[in-house]
Amino acid sequence: MDFNSQMLLLSTLFLCFLSLQVQANIPTLQTYIIQLHPQGLTSSPFYSKRQWHLSFLEQTLSAEEDSSSRLLYSYSNAMEGFAAQLSETEIEYLKKLPDVVAVRADRKYEIQTTYSPKFLGLSLGTQGVWFNSSMGEGAIVGVLDTGVWPESPSFSDSRMPSIPQKWRGACQEGQDFNSSNCNKKLIGAKFFIKGHHVASSPPSDVDQEYVSPRDSHGHGTHTSSTAAGASVAEASVFGNGAGVAQGMAPRAHIAVYKVCWFSGCYSSDIVAAMDAAIRDGVDILSLSLGGFPLPFFDDSIAIGSFRAMQHGISVNCAAGNNGPIQSSVANVAPWITTIGASTLDRRFPAIVRLSNGEFIYGESMYPGNKFKHATKELEVVYLTGGQMGGELCLKGSLPREQVEGKIVLCDRGVNGRSEKGQIVKESGGAAMILANTAINLEEDLVDVHVLPATLIGFAEANQLKAYMNTTSNPKARIQFGGTVIGRSRAPSVAQFSSRGPSLTNPSTLKPDVIAPGVNIIAAWPQNLGPTGLPEDSRRSNFTVMSGTSMACPHVSGIAALIHSAHPKWTPAAIKSAIMTTAEVTDHYGKPILDGSKPAGVFAMGAGHINPTKAIDPGLVYDIKPYEYVIHLCALGYTHSEIFIITHMNVSCHKVLQMNKGFSLNYPSMSVVFKHKTTSKAVSRRLTNVGSPNSIYSVEVTAPKGVQVRVKPRRLVFKYVNQSLNYKVWFMSEKGKEGKTVSSSEGHLTWVHSENGKYKVRSPIVVTWKN
Ligand SMILES: *[C@@H]1O[C@H](CO)[C@@H](O)[C@H](O)[C@H]1NC(C)=O
Ligand SMILES: *[C@@H]1O[C@H](CO)[C@@H](O)[C@H](O)[C@H]1NC(C)=O
Ligand SMILES: *[C@@H]1O[C@H](CO)[C@@H](O)[C@H](O)[C@H]1NC(C)=O
Ligand SMILES: *[C@@H]1O[C@H](CO)[C@@H](O)[C@H](O)[C@H]1NC(C)=O
Ligand SMILES: *[C@@H]1O[C@H](CO)[C@@H](O)[C@H](O)[C@H]1NC(C)=O
Ligand SMILES: *[C@@H]1O[C@H](CO)[C@@H](O)[C@H](O)[C@H]1NC(C)=O
Repeated sequence: MDFNSQMLLLSTLFLCFLSLQVQANIPTLQTYIIQLHPQGLTSSPFYSKRQWHLSFLEQTLSAEEDSSSRLLYSYSNAMEGFAAQLSETEIEYLKKLPDVVAVRADRKYEIQTTYSPKFLGLSLGTQGVWFNSSMGEGAIVGVLDTGVWPESPSFSDSRMPSIPQKWRGACQEGQDFNSSNCNKKLIGAKFFIKGHHVASSPPSDVDQEYVSPRDSHGHGTHTSSTAAGASVAEASVFGNGAGVAQGMAPRAHIAVYKVCWFSGCYSSDIVAAMDAAIRDGVDILSLSLGGFPLPFFDDSIAIGSFRAMQHGISVNCAAGNNGPIQSSVANVAPWITTIGASTLDRRFPAIVRLSNGEFIYGESMYPGNKFKHATKELEVVYLTGGQMGGELCLKGSLPREQVEGKIVLCDRGVNGRSEKGQIVKESGGAAMILANTAINLEEDLVDVHVLPATLIGFAEANQLKAYMNTTSNPKARIQFGGTVIGRSRAPSVAQFSSRGPSLTNPSTLKPDVIAPGVNIIAAWPQNLGPTGLPEDSRRSNFTVMSGTSMACPHVSGIAALIHSAHPKWTPAAIKSAIMTTAEVTDHYGKPILDGSKPAGVFAMGAGHINPTKAIDPGLVYDIKPYEYVIHLCALGYTHSEIFIITHMNVSCHKVLQMNKGFSLNYPSMSVVFKHKTTSKAVSRRLTNVGSPNSIYSVEVTAPKGVQVRVKPRRLVFKYVNQSLNYKVWFMSEKGKEGKTVSSSEGHLTWVHSENGKYKVRSPIVVTWKN
């Protein structure tokens, strides 16, 4: 090192040291959400909400400080309160001011088709649900995500009806985005960045992202087009999965709220978006975001959703991608619809043919434009044992001389699947085999890799590795088989889909349902390659993605269809329709699988969505907003916790006295036996939304270890909108028989007397806790 560069290094170090010194004297500010008493403003001298909110900062900050520069958002619809930047000392002081109900530090959440409409039976002419629901006409779906690519053909408004009169939203201007980007399909677009800005200062990422509703990531374009994208003929990903691409509700309107940035999605931004969406007049909210399961009073999404539900908005959320770990399910509030992911029966075979004649099944989208194609026979290498992560194909771990012109085997994990392909390509590799590990087992996720590649299951990976161990010169070729439909069992539960039971609220069975979330083709920004990698210079209007993020907008779109067909239904009635008509068998009429075993209720909830039936469920379990308050009381939430969640001042003592034996009218039943209790009763109320003079009788499959009694066993509905109650008793036999099971499942179904016309099914799960 010469003298000059040493000086430079020293002075840089010195400068760093200096800036650290300076920073240490400025207390670090972070974002807090401050919830206020809803009646506080009326008893204060302020004439505007913003002034009232600023007054809390003025009381807290020193006189020289500009309080308005600290205020990020004033909320009024999703929550009473505001978001502001404060130091720890300041928030300690502010907490104690009158009318402050709760204070929460900002929290980060993460984001988690050409074929799926047909798979779900949507487009069957005058028989299908699209015919009866006018394809979602009149409904507005609000999507909280990474924004939108408005020029995508999926957001074209040709033949769209005009914008509903009640719409109060707008198209917010920003970088490369203005009002001309909205139309009768994409009727609103806004972005919320203040929380993200505070959390990521210096705002390095922001330079690479559009500071506008425009999507820099692709995820939001994909999810919003899945919910309500327009029909696009001849859509495909380089010839893969070719067909008509359309959302679940092709005539519904879309309003986009960008809350997710490269570094994540912050709760202060999410609440601001929900606040705007409620005021703007959306009918459905779709949140393909998740985090860790939290108690409701500490979860801004749960609190904002409660307000949305009170306004008649259905809130649909992804269950999370942390399966198959037990109790990983997130977004579990009973007023939210929680959605897990399932597989389609569409496959993209990419078979590895070994030189010894064996072959290994894998899947991939071939990046070229040809259907049938195979690589040459090439040597296969697997760089294990090094320090650099060669077996994972991490950056810098693949020496060119060892991989050039070869097929490189890479284990999944640590870096992204497409990223591994990019690294193999950069290192000179000719092709890639991605191997599932014990974590992913046999899950098949396809990607549009930048080089010929395939993904193989865990068992297949062991087979390949064993072959490589016993051969001095292992060789193989990858043979691509195009798109194959209908030859595999589907739907099944996706391996990654988060599982119940919910730890924060075991009395509600979660997830509620599963929906297609594996290898979903939907719209994609026109300036991104289909892998989303910066190095990917290919362009496609569609790409394939997997996740509960993809499952969630399927249900949001279906909620839009139901809303369009039944505009007066509450969010609870819409959810009930989706849950009680869900399927528990696959397209072969056999139980839906979870891996190699039949799926349980903690994996699939009520089952796999069936939109055709959901639009006409016969009966619904409806819930009035106030009933959730009684439920929270019954769960033992404190007065102040309930106040934070609902903004309602209730005395649970009185509430429970007036509602003895209350059960939340949920479409599924979760019964928890604690300590020595041996019997439990729940009640339910069914409302007739089918035809007058309908008679239903009950069929029960009792969970193992309990006896179930239902009264009455017959419900006679004379007219439409009539509600009738029934009661179910569960008697635990566990003590008597000394069984060791900790939970067991069954179901209860009300069957219409014209057999098969309507079947209203509720899953039951019984859990024993000590
Ligand atoms: C659609 O409506 C028609 C006519 O009202 C009815 O016969 C048909 O059963 C409905 N289909 C569905 C799926 O609800
Ligand atoms: C919006 O942007 C487009 C393209 O950048 C431009 O042609 C148009 O004039 C702008 N419209 C408005 C209303 O600013
Ligand atoms: C292959 O050989 C390595 C080293 O001998 C061993 O650790 C590994 O378990 C073997 N793999 C298989 C699948 O046989
Ligand atoms: C994407 O769609 C646009 C608008 O329909 C079209 O002009 C363009 O050619 C398409 N791009 C590709 C790569 O197919
Ligand atoms: C709730 O109501 C009671 C009596 O109506 C009142 O004394 C109390 O201050 C209220 N609490 C809040 C947080 O509004
Ligand atoms: C049922 O109730 C809804 C909303 O309350 C109402 O719009 C509808 O007309 C009622 N239907 C009948 C047949 O009474």
